[in-house]
Amino acid sequence: MKNKLIILSSCFLSLMLMFSCKENNKESDEETLEVTAQSDTDFRPAFHFTPEENWMNDPNGMFFLNGTYHLFFQYYPEGNTWGPMHWGHATSKDMIKWEEQPIALEPDEQGYIFSGSAVVDTENTSGFGDGETPPVIAMFTYHDPKGEEEGREDYQTQAIAYSLDEGKTFTKYEGNPVIENPGIRDFRDPKITRDNVHDQWIMVLSADDQTMFYTSQNLKDWELASEFGRGIGAHGGVWECPDFIQMKVEDSDEKKWVLIQSLNPGGYNGGSGTQYFVGDFDGKTFTLDESMQDLDEDHPYWLDFGKDNYAGVTWANIPEEDGRHLFIGWMSNWQYANEVPTETWRSAMTIARELKLTKTEDTYRVISSPVSELEDYKGEEFTKNNIEVEGETQIVASEEIDLANAVLSFEIENLKQQEYHFSLSNDGGDILKFGYDHKAEEFYIDRSNSGLTDFNENFGDKVSKAPRLSKTSNLKVKAIIDNMSIELFFDNGETVMTEIFFPEQPLSTFSAEGKNFSINNLKINQVKLN
Ligand code: FRU
Repeated sequence: MKNKLIILSSCFLSLMLMFSCKENNKESDEETLEVTAQSDTDFRPAFHFTPEENWMNDPNGMFFLNGTYHLFFQYYPEGNTWGPMHWGHATSKDMIKWEEQPIALEPDEQGYIFSGSAVVDTENTSGFGDGETPPVIAMFTYHDPKGEEEGREDYQTQAIAYSLDEGKTFTKYEGNPVIENPGIRDFRDPKITRDNVHDQWIMVLSADDQTMFYTSQNLKDWELASEFGRGIGAHGGVWECPDFIQMKVEDSDEKKWVLIQSLNPGGYNGGSGTQYFVGDFDGKTFTLDESMQDLDEDHPYWLDFGKDNYAGVTWANIPEEDGRHLFIGWMSNWQYANEVPTETWRSAMTIARELKLTKTEDTYRVISSPVSELEDYKGEEFTKNNIEVEGETQIVASEEIDLANAVLSFEIENLKQQEYHFSLSNDGGDILKFGYDHKAEEFYIDRSNSGLTDFNENFGDKVSKAPRLSKTSNLKVKAIIDNMSIELFFDNGETVMTEIFFPEQPLSTFSAEGKNFSINNLKINQVKLN
């Protein structure tokens, strides 16, 4: 089957080139169709969101209202590669089990509907409300393909739409665009946050490789307040899909503002990635915390170090009694997103995650964990303690528990060996490896032999690495495993790595390798949605 998979195009990363990439992919559509339908059913995740059909990228417009989590997403309903963007829509009671809904926003004469956000305007500051239902205001980027073709610089503008039926249908505002383009080619992905401290709406927008901060009283009239990013952090590509949230520091009353900022390329392990910055906000300007001054390209402030968590942002309007910062990301990478070997659908979201801000000595970190709602879907359980590892040691196989859709966790106490290796494999020779190099203080994921990899040269070529940030002598590992993805939460989510893979049959055996160490509290829970 590997050889059948010939995909010609190699996607470039700027949006302009994404268009030519799309063209290339169109030509190769017929060839990708040769991939058997079997691979498609095999790869579809059991408990991660994928659209029923066709192409998806970034999560958009997430808000919570009346017990329902809404997730919109970049969607091309007519093909399985990137194309004229719509906003698809899905709803859930718990961020785990999703129901796809009709398309929410379609392209029109002003352009494609690129990424953006939505808020419930509970006080009707926008005036769109009818006095009964609070209006939901979506803000998105219009991407005008004609302007782009003509070689103009100003073909991306910001627009709004409102919904009076809790996000089912939207009406585009007649005064669009609400923000004109000042002549910046990459000028997109507005993310709105309610700023109760300064009694205003804030919107962050990516502009080339900077973040622009806007403020508003009514969600229609926006004023540029400041810019952030010059010379700070990673700039290997265009900044995209920002998010800006105020977070309470764990175990303290301190509050800080966190700017989440995706970029492509320039991610920690190449291609797309999401970095973050912690600081203060005076109502207009975001100032980086002192502990992060002089942040260069190689900094360790990444929400996820794996290759497949991009453009992720948080839900708006989470009730105060809940108070969580809830995040979801797109589980792919622009290096190969258009070419991954699925047929009728393409791309999944990460598991929804809770973000927390911690402070150790003077260092702030955003840590992540899968939302606790995932625990409601626990299936069969397997546990084992004090497993001695010497050389290559098989720990558990599918006769004992199915590992293809599972949460697997374990601990290693008192790290003293140099290397710790783990793997998930099958009888066909596919193997997904991950582990920890104690000397280098580095985690890794190696998917080079994990199944189908040759659809793109950037997929299996390099081992992904991530720094260990925790200073504890015990290691905790939690892996969320679905048919085509692994999300590794090391040290309670201080270092996270998410990667996708395409094994030719399900991965069924968990093994470890190393010199004389023991695995404690191994726990495997199947995840079952029904
Ligand atoms: C990020 C991105 C956004 C853009 C969207 C287009 O993945 O490039 O910047 O709005 O995708 O689909």
